[in-house]
Amino acid sequence: MAFALEKQAIMAGLSDPMLPSPFCLQRVRKETYDTFTLELEPANGAGEFSFAAGQFNMLYAFGVGEVPISISGDPSKPQTLVHTVRAVGTVTQALCKLKRGEVLGVRGPFGNHWPVEEAVGSDVVIVTGGIGLAPLRPALYHLLSNREKYGRIVLVYGARTLQDMLYKRELEQWRSQLDLEVDVTVDTAPASYRGNVGVVTTLIPRVQFDPFQTVALVCGPEVMMRFTVRELEHRGVEPENIFISMERNMRCGVGFCGHCQFGSVFVCRDGPVFRYAEIQPFFAKREV
Ligand SMILES: Cc1cc2nc3c(=O)[nH]c(=O)nc-3n(C[C@H](O)[C@H](O)[C@H](O)COP(=O)(O)OP(=O)(O)OC[C@H]3O[C@@H](n4cnc5c(N)ncnc54)[C@H](O)[C@@H]3O)c2cc1C
Ligand code: FES
Repeated sequence: MAFALEKQAIMAGLSDPMLPSPFCLQRVRKETYDTFTLELEPANGAGEFSFAAGQFNMLYAFGVGEVPISISGDPSKPQTLVHTVRAVGTVTQALCKLKRGEVLGVRGPFGNHWPVEEAVGSDVVIVTGGIGLAPLRPALYHLLSNREKYGRIVLVYGARTLQDMLYKRELEQWRSQLDLEVDVTVDTAPASYRGNVGVVTTLIPRVQFDPFQTVALVCGPEVMMRFTVRELEHRGVEPENIFISMERNMRCGVGFCGHCQFGSVFVCRDGPVFRYAEIQPFFAKREV
């Protein structure tokens, strides 16, 4: 009953900031066996969804629950809202089962963004693992459409297996671009595979960039980010120039509930993107 009233209020577009707006699923693309890209448009027709690369929304599967999901589309194309969701539990599975034309709730955009302006004039190294490529794809779109403003651009991406790799067609396109270096690796592969095999950090010593003039953007499982930061520092990148996107369980998404506390900060309000130098003391600890 409460759920029916809530859905009615949402469909009526009532403007409580904690109340999701209804969005209609326009298209679903299966990325891997458990990951889907959802293209959404406002259920009431017109409207754009402006956001900055790195921000997230709270997506609400009616009657099931709400989860934070990064926006994975192109910030210069706000007509369609794009999210890539990996089905790992109750809510993400419900989101991934939605069919074209069905409605879900969206609150956002929330959080800060990748420092694409600060990186102007520098080399940019993107290191990402698994679903971590989704929050970084908008940054890559931005860098590529402003290509002349940056030095070298390097994308280093690791997936568990070839079957886990996101955006395969786009990765191939990016790899064929002469002014972008794309290095991909998988943790395990059949013996016949001729590409890189090994964890993503093994690629960092090999890629070309000027460590003293580099901004690094990192997103992936926490353990992968710890080792990545270590390798980047080893190459000479300063902690001030390394940015990582943190994940914590969330409820409100707007700094009210304290659910996403991480050391002295709230991930939803102060992040999810953090300058490594600023969170270094508590990033080193497993749970804070
Ligand atoms: C800022 C932010 C941005 C995010 N962006 C994305 C995104 O773009 N795409 C996306 O798919 N997810 C993203 N996530 C993660 C997503 O919010 C969680 O996967 C989701 O909350 C899980 O909810 P659930 O109800 O589906 O799973 P639950 O029912 O809460 O969990 C079920 C099981 O899955 C495990 N689990 C939970 N989360 C994960 C996980 N991330 N990886 C592996 N196992 C997990 C739990 O330990 C549990 O065993 C983001 C999280 C944050 C904080
Ligand atoms: S989720 Fe409530 S304070 Fe961050």
